[in-house]
Formats: sequence, structure tokens, C-alpha cells
Amino acid sequence: MILSRTSQTGDDSSLFSSIANDIASKGYSINSAALPQDLAHLLTSHIANMPKANFKRAGIGRSVDLKINDSVRTDVISWINGDTEAGKAWLSWTQALQAFLNRRLFLGLFSFESHFAHYAEGDFYKKHKDAFIGEGNRILSVVVYLNQYWSKDDGGGLVIYNNQQSTSAVIDEHTISVTPGFGTVVVFLSEEFPHEVLAAKRDRFSIAGWFRLNCSIANSIDPPS
Ligand code: OGA
Ligand code: MN
Repeated sequence: MILSRTSQTGDDSSLFSSIANDIASKGYSINSAALPQDLAHLLTSHIANMPKANFKRAGIGRSVDLKINDSVRTDVISWINGDTEAGKAWLSWTQALQAFLNRRLFLGLFSFESHFAHYAEGDFYKKHKDAFIGEGNRILSVVVYLNQYWSKDDGGGLVIYNNQQSTSAVIDEHTISVTPGFGTVVVFLSEEFPHEVLAAKRDRFSIAGWFRLNCSIANSIDPPS
């Protein structure tokens, strides 16, 4: 519940500060075991107890263009809303992060959408960007991991391609590898960083979410329901 959040205000503000500093200086932020413990445990037991039927194959693209494509991603997802205690607690935490980043970085983040994701053994998500051309309203991506006792040998790494520093004509991408360990929080600019999820060797649970700008125009209220 919202009340329990206040006990973590101290933790959150130092984490939120380092996320803001990282985003301002390099565009991405990786924080190991950083999600507040009680929130991480609440989400982990929630996801473990969710009926399998709640998870659906994830599509590529949006709404009418949505396609299931086995060669791009094979995970299953479940969109998060505020109907459960765990969902509420997560949305309350991301709301606090959004408010902090708007104050600190003047980002103008307006709304947030997120889903649980389950990668079974062998599942992957090939190199992609989270913001689509012509729909550039996804500004900031956030991923948190809910896997206790994850080791590097379990695979499932997140690889972020960082070509920002490239000064020569030859694109010299360097990659950043993230082990999807318990409570790790990753944030990056959605349009800037292609990334991929390497095949997991055992069940891998995460939440992926996106902060968006307000793209309301005329008679179309954003975000669409
Ligand atoms: C995504 C994504 C990364 C991860 O869902 O768009 O890139 O590590 N997820 O789960
Ligand atoms: Mn992604």
C-alpha cells in the first residue's frame, strides 16, 4: 500500500539520485540489488503465484500492427495494473521515480506502462529499441529483475549496445552486460540504446516499463485505454 512507501523514502531518494545523475551523464543507469527489499519480495511472490494463463505471448509493434514473431522474442508477458497489492506497490514506486526525475531532470514524463515478463529456458529477445520511429513518446525504459540466486551461468543477460561515444566513421559499439540478479534496477533512454536479452537457461522473471510523454492531440486523449 501507499503508506508502506514512506518507510523507504530514504532508500529511494539515494537510488533515485544516482539514476538521475547517470541518465544525465551517460543515458543509462545500472543498480545492483537496488529495488527496496520489501517491494522486490512482494513482486517476486506475486509473479510466482500468478496463473500461467495471465501471461500472453508478447508482440512486436503496437496495436493493429502487433505481430507475434518467434525469431525476435519468445517471452510471455502480463501487463501490470493497480488491481493487486503488488501491482499497486510497484506503480507507487515508479510514480515516485517519475516525480523525482521530472523535478531533477525536467523530463516531462507523463505516464507509465509496464508488464511482468517470464522467459522460460531458451527464451530470448533479440536486439531491439523500445521506442518506435514515428511514435517517439517512450522516453525512458526501466527494467527490474526478480530472480533470486541468479548466477552468470544461468544466461539471460541483458546486453545494452552503447554507440554514443563513437567519434569515428567506423561504428565502434561497446556493450554493457547486466546479470538479471535480484532487485537490480536498469534505466535507460528508450530511443538511444538498442539492447537484447540473451537466452535464459532457467526461468527468468522481470518487469519492463516505459515512461512516456503526453502526446494528446485534439480529440485523442493519451494514453489510449
Ligand atoms: C523489453 C526488454 C529487457 C530485460 O521487454 O523490452 O528489453 O532484460 N527487456 O528483460
Ligand atoms: Mn526492450
